Order: sequence, then C-alpha cells, then structure tokens
Amino acid sequence: TTTAFAFIAVAYLIGSLSFAVIVSRAMGMADPRSYGSGNPGATNVLRSGKKLAAVLTLLGDGIKGWLAVALAAWLAPRYGLGAREVSMVALAVLVGHMWPIFFGFKGGKGVATAVGVLFGFNLWLALAAIATWLFMALVVKISSLSALTACVLAPVFAYFIIGPQSPFFGTCIIIAILVVHRHKSNLVNLLTGQEGKIGEKSSPED
Ligand code: G3P
Repeated sequence: TTTAFAFIAVAYLIGSLSFAVIVSRAMGMADPRSYGSGNPGATNVLRSGKKLAAVLTLLGDGIKGWLAVALAAWLAPRYGLGAREVSMVALAVLVGHMWPIFFGFKGGKGVATAVGVLFGFNLWLALAAIATWLFMALVVKISSLSALTACVLAPVFAYFIIGPQSPFFGTCIIIAILVVHRHKSNLVNLLTGQEGKIGEKSSPED
C-alpha cells in the first residue's frame, strides 16, 4: 500500500543519516571515510582517538534504528499496518544506514543500527545481542568479530525469545546476512590475522 511505502521511504531516509559523518563534521574532525578502515561507524570514529565522537556516533546510529521501528510499530494499528510492514521498515532503516542517499551511498556496516532495530522488536532480544557483543569484546577485543558473533546469534535468540512464527524472526536472519555481507573486508583481515583491536589508533586505509 501507499502508506506502507511512505513508512519504508521515511525509514530509509532516517537510516541515511550517517552519524559518523554528521558527528565528525560537527566536531571539526576528519571524515571517518578517510582514515582507519574507512568505515563510517562508531568503531572507526574511535580510531580518531575522540571517545565522545565515537559514543555519539554509536548512540545516533543506534537510536535511529530503534526510532524507525518504534514509530512504525506505534503507528501501525492506526494505519492498518502489520508486523510484516514493521519488518520492512526495520530493513529500510538498515539499508539506509548501509547505502545512505545523503552520503554517496557509502554507509556503515550496520551494527549499531541493527541493535537499535532489535530494541524496537524486543527489549530482551536487544539485550541478548548486546551481552554477546560485550562478552566477545571483552574476550577478543575485536569490534568486527564481536559484531559478527552477535549478529549471527541474533536469529537464534529471536527464535527462542520472539518465536519463529513472528515476521521479526525472518527479519533477524536477513539483518544477519546484510551485516555479515558488509563485514567482508573484516572477514579477510580476521582470517589473515590483520584485524586490529578496539581503540587502536588509525593506520593508513587498507
Ligand atoms: O561496527 C563496525 C565494526 O564491526 C567494524 O568496523 O571500522 O573495524 O571495520 P571497522
């Protein structure tokens, strides 16, 4: 329907707000696409050494994911939308983050935004994913490996927490596929032992 399309379009535009780039510009820092991994995300902004900028990026990218899903879920009954449409809104905000219309379609890897989306789906699902990320981050101290573990396990958590009959379960599988796809360069670095630890200062772009 037209209404569902409007929700999806707005979610894509919200997702396109790349907070790594916006925060960096506002704080007079270099564009995160010009250093480190070149990725506009909180992990790479942290490589600049500015912790506040990284935290603001994480919050901005996370909250936009949550906001898109929470708004859609809140307005769904009023506009005759169901969980399938809310799922499409969730994917749209993530796609916007990964391929943002405002920033030359050069977006991030989707970890913070995916966690925000999970908050919109189910509080416990989001907390399980965050706990996995934190556990891995404490053990291996590698952002990408922590994110990959959390996003691969997210559908498993979703299976038990929200159940396989919910459209959100299938959406979690698609989210995991998208996030893994965006981590291809990290997977290569992980397999060749070249992936850096969290907070290591930026090295020339790879
Ligand atoms: O959140 C993205 C993270 O998993 C990897 O980022 O900059 O290390 O490629 P980066």
